[in-house]
Amino acid sequence: MLIRRASDIASSEITPESVYRSRRSFMRMAGMAAIGTTSLPLVGHGDALAETSSTESPIRAWPDAVPQPGATQWMRSKVAAAVSGPFATEEDPAPWEAATTYNNFYEFGTNKGDPAEHAHDLTIDPWTVEITGEVDKPGKYALEDILAPHDLEERIYRLRCVEAWSMVIPWIGFPLGDLLARFGPTSSARFVEFTTLYRPSEMRGQRSFFATLDYPYVEALRLDEAMNPLTLMAVGMYGETLPKQNGAPLRLVVPWKYGFKSIKSIVKIRLTRRMPRTTWNELQPREYGFYANVNPEVSHPRWSQASERRLPSSLFAPNRRDTLMFNGYAEQVASMYSDMDLRLNF
Ligand code: MTE
Repeated sequence: MLIRRASDIASSEITPESVYRSRRSFMRMAGMAAIGTTSLPLVGHGDALAETSSTESPIRAWPDAVPQPGATQWMRSKVAAAVSGPFATEEDPAPWEAATTYNNFYEFGTNKGDPAEHAHDLTIDPWTVEITGEVDKPGKYALEDILAPHDLEERIYRLRCVEAWSMVIPWIGFPLGDLLARFGPTSSARFVEFTTLYRPSEMRGQRSFFATLDYPYVEALRLDEAMNPLTLMAVGMYGETLPKQNGAPLRLVVPWKYGFKSIKSIVKIRLTRRMPRTTWNELQPREYGFYANVNPEVSHPRWSQASERRLPSSLFAPNRRDTLMFNGYAEQVASMYSDMDLRLNF
């Protein structure tokens, strides 16, 4: 299939004005909601749902963040222009060092330090993303065209891994819903499937004889989950472009679900009628459900999910804390599951 570049495709062709408008009005609404809620007492879990008091203001400086090799100047400038967005937790973000050296990215190895050690081999420019399936405007698009109309914002979210550790990370990105709206989901679209790059020559985990996973890595969301304002397409963190070990140049961040749903280095987005098969669920369906909503009451078959280790932590300062329902984002997402038994649909 042909790769369409900026010169071939007018942004008006893939970006209806209404989408820009609705995004702006969402930003305003989010800002207003944030201002509205700061005076209310926070119920149940401390500052878990605290939001930034303003949007569209510059983000704070992250002095320990390191500029990343491989990103284009165009991408750097775009990330540098990010403003602070809604839904930010006031909990302390992990140091840059922890967020970029303790990773899960099996394409580069299964030890936590492997991605930081081996991901530098990955070529991230040029990068194309195919948008396919139940959409009005399918095609293979250059990353620049995917990102061009979207202003970026910082979202400081908790990330809760299914392995019972968590971190707070200041992502930079934009709502996935804004992206999907540009390509026109058809009335038959019910799910959104995401696929990671398959390039064994640069991803040593994919060429390993002992590969744990069946590559390429695939994840998926229900369409309403994908359109939820919390769901983010991230291109940066800590004010910099994404490090390769964290999923450069484009990854998903779904903060109320276990981290394995937040798929990295995305090259394909497919809208489907049926629930897609996903990598971890296929491998071990009893352990990794399709929904994977963070839920302290539903244990993993091999360990409890009632509490978690907030990183950084150590033997002497284990930093254990109770896990929050939907990772603390119940206010934004619980209504999507009100008619579901979450023990069955884990
Ligand atoms: N995406 C791909 N393609 N491959 C992976 O192995 N691991 C997932 C998720 N996305 C993974 C992935 C898991 S289990 C987690 S917890 C998060 O990435 C970790 O993201 P981080 O390394 O940026 O903290």
